[in-house]
Order: sequence, then structure tokens, then C-alpha cells
Amino acid sequence: MALRNVREQGDAILGKISKDVKEVTPRVRELIEDMLDTMYEANGVGLAAVQVGVLKRIFVVDVTGEDPHVFINPKILETSGEQTGHEGCLSLPGKTGIVTRPNHVKVAAYDENMEYFELEGEELLARAICHENDHLDGHLYVEKVEGDLMDVEDLQEEEETQAEDT
Ligand code: NI
Repeated sequence: MALRNVREQGDAILGKISKDVKEVTPRVRELIEDMLDTMYEANGVGLAAVQVGVLKRIFVVDVTGEDPHVFINPKILETSGEQTGHEGCLSLPGKTGIVTRPNHVKVAAYDENMEYFELEGEELLARAICHENDHLDGHLYVEKVEGDLMDVEDLQEEEETQAEDT
């Protein structure tokens, strides 16, 4: 298991556009494994390669802790519905804000073996896919926050809400 350093807001790399992956080299495979380790260690539900300083169009998502998905060169094909709720990001530790996202997404991508797949997701999975996909184009959720960013600590005092870091 190898953990990578997660870049935080203010690091210029987070505003850059990631590049398509042409092939899964041993180095890319190691990157993906490290991204999963890093995401789980931080109790996150998603992580994009740019967050560990690599400008490749790769992100990982696991909203249950036992269902990891690897997305290489993802394209969001369809979105529908709407959900409004708290969102967080491993690049803004301890913070959360309210963001409206599609409630349903259909995404096409390549997995860690460069096999094409399509996946449909709802609710948190849809939110995480949209959030991670934004990272690949240099966007952070703070650009979409309604109202102010809050401290997760303050939020945890409100029982009906839960923050997820992606
Ligand atoms: Ni994030």
C-alpha cells in the first residue's frame, strides 16, 4: 500500500486540465492502486489523479467502501434530475458546502484494463462522478457551492446531514 500526498486548494495544479490516457502502463496501474489506497485511507468516496499531482484523466470512486470503480478518459453521456446536498473534497479537508448536481448520470469510461464500460449511477454515486469529472477539467466544487463553505465539525452537530469527501 502506498499513499500519495493529496494536493489542497491553492495548489495551482488543481486548476489545470488533465490529459487523456493512451495506455495503462505499469506506472499508470501503480498510480491507480495508490489512488485507491489514498482515497480509502482518507475515508473519501472519490479521488482524481490531479489531486495527487498527476494530470491524467483518471478518477476512482467507491461510495460504499466495497465497490471501487476506476474511470479512465471518462465522458458523461447523460444527466437527469437534480439533488441538492452537502459535498466535500479531499483537497479541502474539513470543509463542506451545499451543491446541486444531477441525481442520475450515465458515464462511459475505460477501466484499469482499458476495457470500455458504461455505468449509470444515482444519488451519491452520481454526485461523486460529477465531482470527480469536474476535477479533470480543473474545477473544484467550491465554484458551485450555494452559500458559504462550512466546517465539517459544525455540520456534524446537525444530525440530518452528512458530508462526503470526494
Ligand atoms: Ni474533490
